[in-house]
Amino acid sequence: MTDQAISARCPALGRDDRKSAAVARAGAGGVPMRVVGNFADARGLLRDPDARQAGFLADLVNKVSLTRAPILYQHGAEHRRQRGATARFFAPRVVTTAYRALMEQTSDALVTRLVADRHANLDDLGLEMAVTIAAEIVGLTDSDRAGMAKRLGALVTGMPQGDSRLATILGFARGQARSIHFLLRDVKPAIAARRRQRREDVISHLLDEGYSDREILTECLTYGAAGMITTREFITMAGWHLLEDEALRARFLEGDEATRMAILEEILRLEPVVGMLFRRVDTEAGVIALDVRGANADAAAVGGCPHRLDPDRETAERVGRAGLAFGDGEHRCPGAQVALQEAAIFLDRLLRVPGIRLTRAPDIGWNGLIAGYELRGATLACDGAAS
Ligand code: HEM
Repeated sequence: MTDQAISARCPALGRDDRKSAAVARAGAGGVPMRVVGNFADARGLLRDPDARQAGFLADLVNKVSLTRAPILYQHGAEHRRQRGATARFFAPRVVTTAYRALMEQTSDALVTRLVADRHANLDDLGLEMAVTIAAEIVGLTDSDRAGMAKRLGALVTGMPQGDSRLATILGFARGQARSIHFLLRDVKPAIAARRRQRREDVISHLLDEGYSDREILTECLTYGAAGMITTREFITMAGWHLLEDEALRARFLEGDEATRMAILEEILRLEPVVGMLFRRVDTEAGVIALDVRGANADAAAVGGCPHRLDPDRETAERVGRAGLAFGDGEHRCPGAQVALQEAAIFLDRLLRVPGIRLTRAPDIGWNGLIAGYELRGATLACDGAAS
């Protein structure tokens, strides 16, 4: 069913609250493979133990000769072992204790700066927030953070995404140069510090496992793309909805933690940052595209009027509120609670700033690597000191 047909079925005036629908329609054009768009089939495939990662340039990554591929590209027993070993960095107790304090401090610092300057870019604040938290989990804490945010941002938007072979090669070469810069400025100092003394983070764990510097670099890049870039877009998108919708904002600010989470998960369901996932079940059959946006708008799973932003919606049994926005099965995002928690804490602080308003809505672009939207230039202004 087309997007328009789904919205037209909704008695609430065919309402479509999605800000990223148009850019996704244009960006998704012509995926040359089988596309699965309904929730049950897409989830079934993500849970299929024989389904292998085929997205995020998996073919390219597999060609680079590494003894161990980053976690996102691993499969089977080795993947399960790495997930088990890194689960402690994402345990709910760790997220709500160790990282919570950092999320609060970082939010306070960003909001204080915004108030002093009277203006800021929401997407820049989102990037700084996301980079700070993910860097702590990964262990990238021995270089200047603002610089690292820029280096990572440039790296991920510079990834090869063109259709032609030349565009891919040029993009790859540019990506390689930027990777070396990131390795020297950020990854090497972090490794050196942890060789002297291990800490409770991913890099220390990888050193214990005997990973080489190059393998640690690719793992850091994976976390950079998976954890930092996605969360930045999500914070910006959620902030945009909340700043524009007064009733939603009041509900978010007056509600308890559960209410804030329900609102954020509903925004992510409606506007998934990662729009497509890719899997290969057997080499003969080729790659299958899983349309996360389509699955998240499947009324059988998420209830009626799926294009409406409705934090009270009742999803079907065993369907999470964010749909497939964090994936499912063996690669399901381990950072889901981290992302939701940091967005909730930061946006709560931000929306309480006196006179906070969006003076310019973001431009919406498209990132082919994650088949998702990129929001840039969302300008905030405020009146004065935070209460
Ligand atoms: C709103 C923010 C986020 C979104 C939308 C998101 C989305 C996703 C999705 C869809 C996957 C599965 C990919 C697949 O199955 O092919 C994934 C995997 C992953 N995510 Fe996230 N993510 C977010 C935040 C984070 C954060 C904050 C971290 C860590 C700090 C993180 C770390 C990872 C890692 C390491 C994987 C690979 C897991 C594996 O392959 O086993 N993500 N993410």
